[in-house]
Amino acid sequence: MTLDEALGVLEADMDPSAAEPYIRVAAEYLRASAERSCPKPVPFDPAHLLNLTAEPPPAEGRPFEDVLAQVANVFVPNSNWLYHPRCMGHQVSAPLPAAIWAESITAALNQSVAVQEMSPLFTGIETGLIRWMAGLAGFGSTAGGVFTSGGTEATFTALLSARAAAFPDAWEAGVGNRAAVVITAEHSHYSVARAVAELGLGARNCLALPSSLFREEPDKLAAEIDRLLQEGRTVVAVVATAGSTAAGRFDDLQAIGAVCAERSLWLHVDGCHGASALLSPVHRHRLRGLEQATSLSWDPHKMMLLPLSASVVLVRDERLLEAAFAQRAPYLFHGGTGRVLDQGIRSFQCSRRADAFKLWIALQRYGTEVFGLLYDHLCATAAAIANAIRRRSDFELSSEPECNILCFRYVGDGRRAENELDGLNSRLRRELNNSGVGWITAARLNGRQVLRITVMNPRTRVEDGEAVLEAIAGLAKA
Ligand SMILES: Cc1ncc(COP(=O)(O)O)c(C=O)c1O
Repeated sequence: MTLDEALGVLEADMDPSAAEPYIRVAAEYLRASAERSCPKPVPFDPAHLLNLTAEPPPAEGRPFEDVLAQVANVFVPNSNWLYHPRCMGHQVSAPLPAAIWAESITAALNQSVAVQEMSPLFTGIETGLIRWMAGLAGFGSTAGGVFTSGGTEATFTALLSARAAAFPDAWEAGVGNRAAVVITAEHSHYSVARAVAELGLGARNCLALPSSLFREEPDKLAAEIDRLLQEGRTVVAVVATAGSTAAGRFDDLQAIGAVCAERSLWLHVDGCHGASALLSPVHRHRLRGLEQATSLSWDPHKMMLLPLSASVVLVRDERLLEAAFAQRAPYLFHGGTGRVLDQGIRSFQCSRRADAFKLWIALQRYGTEVFGLLYDHLCATAAAIANAIRRRSDFELSSEPECNILCFRYVGDGRRAENELDGLNSRLRRELNNSGVGWITAARLNGRQVLRITVMNPRTRVEDGEAVLEAIAGLAKA
């Protein structure tokens, strides 16, 4: 292809008729999977999947129809069908249509939300949404925040802010051999320990206390903090979880908040999964005490059903967040008097997608109340599936669900040893996922292998959960 031809193709691809086949592939996938008319999943075979994409990119462009036919016929069927009502695996949503379509405008406008002059309006959209979310969290008007690439970056940013508060000179001088710890519980997400290691504090200084029924124990936490303080250690932060990854449980934020407040400690709440309960009149109580936290991670790409990625870190005092990135870049960020509008001074990233836009679109299109209703509905479906498990003697519930995450185990006639059940449940998950009946995931709870369902699709019904249980029982007997 000559340059002139290439420029011609670029111009032609700006036409709506070029965009339409893309939209058709995506919309057809949404329709087929929501109506359950999708193909049986291809058995998971990494070598086969690698082969499908092994060809190096062509030197000359291919006709559009050929490229999209490959996407529709090969890539879509070999992806996880999150829109299928029996897809109940990880905490990745069946995303809201308005937010899906918003992505094309985000990409077309390509505003980088680091510097206000590079994203004049989108900086305002992000700032407005941060204020709204901080208000829901009870953080008040001094709060600040920023959209992040995910909950992992959100928690990293919060703990970097906490490090700056504990050691204001750490940015310049490093952390050296300071006797510093971050305290969390064993059920916390791995991103907490990862952040502690990334911050140079040393992974071994992330202390994960034993949990009780998959929740942090405030009394033991208090005792451990006091012991560490007496030893002369600096407690950089305490991390609590609102909606834990494996079991979906919520820590007692009131009690943990009181422990931290008495000792003037930074409390970070990992609400990546569960902070969206703030929108639900039914489930909001699980976050009681959140207003005592210093920072919060919240992933709208989980329980607000946005496409990846859309996450937020909120900090009670915007200046504490700004202290995290104590760097000057006068060629880019324009200080001056008053509040700096450039979100880049509050973010790990430089070039940054306008992820706030799809949240804005979804809120405008559906209204805030729907998000509470959706949250309740996903949790109610999980609760109904939990009841179906309770009614069966060949399954046991491994933890009481507090949101849309459910752990359970096939036990059959109850005569198998625990170790044997571990292996059996692992095999059952694999076979179920290859069967085309449903797709679930797994976890380890109290050292045991359990099956795990996360209801992330409003189309999932209790009957889908029952069908999955029946299929697992059938596979076990076979
Ligand atoms: C409780 C919790 N925190 C943090 C994360 C990490 O979020 P992300 O995958 O958006 O980085 C997850 C993801 O599963 C989570 O469940």
